[in-house]
Amino acid sequence: MEELQEKIKQYQLKFDEAAKNVKSPNELQELRVQFLGRKRGYLTKLIDSLRDLSPEERPLIGKEINELKKYITSRLEEINQNLAAETRKTPRIDITLPGKTIPLGAPHPIVKFQEEIENIFYQMGFSVEDGPEIETDYYNFEALNFPPHHPARDDWDTIYIEGRDDLLLRTHTSPVQIRAMEKRKPPIRIIIPGRVFRKETPDPTHLPMFFQVEGLVVDVGITFAHLKGTLESFLRRLFSERIKIRFRPSFFPFTEPSAEVDISCTVCLGEDKECRVCRGSGWIEILGAGMVDPQVLKNVNIDPEKYSGFAFGMGIDRTAMFVYQISDMRSFYENDLRFLRQFLKQ
Ligand code: PHE
Repeated sequence: MEELQEKIKQYQLKFDEAAKNVKSPNELQELRVQFLGRKRGYLTKLIDSLRDLSPEERPLIGKEINELKKYITSRLEEINQNLAAETRKTPRIDITLPGKTIPLGAPHPIVKFQEEIENIFYQMGFSVEDGPEIETDYYNFEALNFPPHHPARDDWDTIYIEGRDDLLLRTHTSPVQIRAMEKRKPPIRIIIPGRVFRKETPDPTHLPMFFQVEGLVVDVGITFAHLKGTLESFLRRLFSERIKIRFRPSFFPFTEPSAEVDISCTVCLGEDKECRVCRGSGWIEILGAGMVDPQVLKNVNIDPEKYSGFAFGMGIDRTAMFVYQISDMRSFYENDLRFLRQFLKQ
């Protein structure tokens, strides 16, 4: 009997010693089997040896074995809790897993195209200017030589600000010509890209909001030849060296003479009578231009006897349609990522 009591003590010490080294759930399980395992566990063996004791001794030793069992069970549970707390503190990171990709934003194709236009003009010595999108009647029309109630105003389907007859959403970037000439004297050589607004129902070639780029050059001795030369080198850089360019007489209240500029169709090269882009004409209208009307110069106190200038205006979205050969301008603003992503690598 003393022998067994001694064994019980030894097992407890042995358990305590082993328990100190347990560092993982696997090691904990091994320890559990070693001591409590049903077949070969140390405690099972101790219980088996009860058989050799007298009926008086059995309950005494049985009680001691039971206590050891309770002790071991509660210690194992305690170690289990500690291990769980430990893994919660330092979560395992599997460094072989692929990283999470964070979706990145990217410039809108129209923004990128606008930057391309700006770069061509930077290289020709122009600087970039901007102005307000909410304008007064004076800048959008009157200073540009549209008298009040003049029928030419009807060509610009104007959106007015409710309750403010004098305020409107600019219908073109031309009002910034006036603002620029008020601010500084010639020589002036600027482009003005920006948003403009017109009362239009959206369809494949019209939007109530779109982008224009305006150009303005004012200096001594500026002629129509400068206008032609500038637009020709710009359009060749933007489209291709091979395009044909033609000027057609036109009318704008703020330029005289005025022209509309066409380029040869980028899609059918003038060879498809059924072409959807040029409708078989072989030409696409790309911008409006002209020599700054002397009256406009007078409106900003620049002497038309001394200075002359040219101006032009081009639709950015509309031109992007031809460059990227897109048949519906609305696609640019529908936020369909499958459409927008096509421009990322260009
Ligand atoms: N502002 C004109 C338009 O919106 C374009 C233009 C600009 C024409 C400058 C001549 C000179 O159609």
